[in-house]
Amino acid sequence: MNKFADVAKKSVMNIKPYVPGKPIEEVQREHGIKDVVKLASNENPLGPSKLAVKAMEKKLKFVNLYPESGAYYLRRALAKHLKVKENTIVFGNGSNEILTLIAEAFVSPGDEVMFSALSFVVYPISTDTVGGIAIQIPHKNFSHDIDGFIKRLSPKTKLVYICNPNNPTGTIVTKNELEKFMSTVSPKIIVALDEAYFEYVQDKNYPDGIKFLAKYPNLIVLRTFSKIYGLAGIRIGYAVADPDIIEIIERVRPPFNANLVAQAAGEAALKDKEHLKNTVKTNNEGRKYICAELKKLGIEYVQPNANFIFVKFKENCKVVFEALLKKGVIIRPQFDNYARITIGTMAENKKLIKALKEIK
Ligand SMILES: Cc1ncc(COP(=O)(O)O)c(C=O)c1O
Repeated sequence: MNKFADVAKKSVMNIKPYVPGKPIEEVQREHGIKDVVKLASNENPLGPSKLAVKAMEKKLKFVNLYPESGAYYLRRALAKHLKVKENTIVFGNGSNEILTLIAEAFVSPGDEVMFSALSFVVYPISTDTVGGIAIQIPHKNFSHDIDGFIKRLSPKTKLVYICNPNNPTGTIVTKNELEKFMSTVSPKIIVALDEAYFEYVQDKNYPDGIKFLAKYPNLIVLRTFSKIYGLAGIRIGYAVADPDIIEIIERVRPPFNANLVAQAAGEAALKDKEHLKNTVKTNNEGRKYICAELKKLGIEYVQPNANFIFVKFKENCKVVFEALLKKGVIIRPQFDNYARITIGTMAENKKLIKALKEIK
């Protein structure tokens, strides 16, 4: 029992702390194995863009200085890349920070915050941090139940998080579903559309949230440099929205939250089209390979749209997780028999499949 539990905000004591993927070094230490692959945190297996690394190295000797708080050069480059106005962007210490800033800016204690019950674990944390009431809509075939969302909207609803593609299940909300939701929801309800895995999706029915912004000023689209751009460790993400929404988020944004090195990394990564192309290709091939092998092994999975696969093992996921650790493969257990596996390089994917065959 925490001796300050009665001093902390009640809503904060409701929070189930975020459990990160198990680090490689920990498995090496605990199991005495050298060759360990981490397929647990949806990171880019090809590493960061080389252009980004060069740009970061150049900036290291200037870290005695605060960064430009408005991220001038990154903002200019990103606005051009996305074909949006510069005043429609806010940067974060990862998009994770912006998810929480949105709750801080818009949700008062007692307001309802709606999201899918089987979605990104940061939504309940952000909600509880500000004393919002979490309204969790049960999933429909592992996907967002958009009709269920619509039915549960109330005068108390202040914020809705939609994760597209959804983490951990990899499902998508289609263009038609997003249009249906946005055209039904009150323009005074903020909709945070989390597109952390946007660049990986191949399905033609997948919407580009940014194209919805002109029609729906209550929409906020979040993306990140952590996933396809391979910059998870340096922490840089962003949101795009109506300038009036951005102006409100800016009020709660900590100064200098997007650090000097990260700003340079993001700007350079946007130029590295080759790295992006290679990552998509590696992911497409890996996705096809793992799915085919899982099928042969009789392991069920949800059709993936991003760089991870939501699987259902025949045994409890913790049992499989521990057995795979001993083989030097780290996956992310979820609940019951379900786990999430990140798609790696082909060598990593083969190591995973070999280990799954051995522990069968
Ligand atoms: C759906 C989703 N949104 C947001 C994030 C946060 O990413 P970051 O803070 O690294 O930009 C993640 C990271 O795992 C994620 O899976």
